[in-house]
Amino acid sequence: MIKKAIIPAAGYGTRSLPVTKVIPKEMFPIGGKPAIHYIVEEAIQSGIEEILIVVSKWKNIIVDYFDASLELEAFLEKNNKQHLLKYTEMPDVHIQYVRQPYSRGLGDAILLGKRFVGNEPFAVLLPDDIIINSKTPALAQLVETYNTRNASVIGLNQVNPELVKKYGVIDGTSISSNVYKLNGIVEKPQSNPPSNLAVIGRYLFDPAIFSFLEQVTPDQSNEIQLTEAISKMLGENECYGELIDGDRFDIGSDDEYTELVKKFSHPKGKK
Ligand code: G1P
Repeated sequence: MIKKAIIPAAGYGTRSLPVTKVIPKEMFPIGGKPAIHYIVEEAIQSGIEEILIVVSKWKNIIVDYFDASLELEAFLEKNNKQHLLKYTEMPDVHIQYVRQPYSRGLGDAILLGKRFVGNEPFAVLLPDDIIINSKTPALAQLVETYNTRNASVIGLNQVNPELVKKYGVIDGTSISSNVYKLNGIVEKPQSNPPSNLAVIGRYLFDPAIFSFLEQVTPDQSNEIQLTEAISKMLGENECYGELIDGDRFDIGSDDEYTELVKKFSHPKGKK
């Protein structure tokens, strides 16, 4: 059973500036809840019991959000608004935090979870990617393949060929209708992509990934790329990709965020 998950939430959110100067992308509202709330719920529904959120120093609002608000609760009780208290309830899960002191990319953020994870398999959920309308929560869809193959599994989405340059893209051999064995993986290929199978932000990793992350040298932007570590891991360990059922929205894209918000309405009965 995979019980631990890392949620990297330390990025600058440059695509969504200027609002992300003060409101982290992970806190963008969707139907009255911030985006990261949905990610935490998905993790819990997928069997996760402990979560590490990687934050940076301008992301304290995320820590505040998952904390209790005693003043607010007291105010609601005193003013006979107990029915609103349920909106202050947070997901029932153990969450801890670590700060990423330097913006050194996704791979570096995950490396900060090495002690938290120890020597067990773990999940990574990227909070940019909100996946809805699936029968099984997106992360949970990967669990069976992890268990039967005993190897890392990456969530995939088939995308239009002109969009592959925005994603990690795999070279895979199909082993069933929705599962591929990875032969290779490249980050944001600007030409000659190996396929149109793009990585979406759900991963189940064997803890061996940490030793490969430690071998990655920073790219031109001084970032440690997770994709590079996966590519190195393929030399020694098997890794699988699985098409995720559901509709995926990238909240860092204005259009997709707007489309997603339209699908949710604010919870009723608040007055
Ligand atoms: C990251 C990963 C990329 C993946 C994407 C999914 O990129 O590096 O491989 O396809 O998330 O959202 P980012 O969106 O952080 O640039």
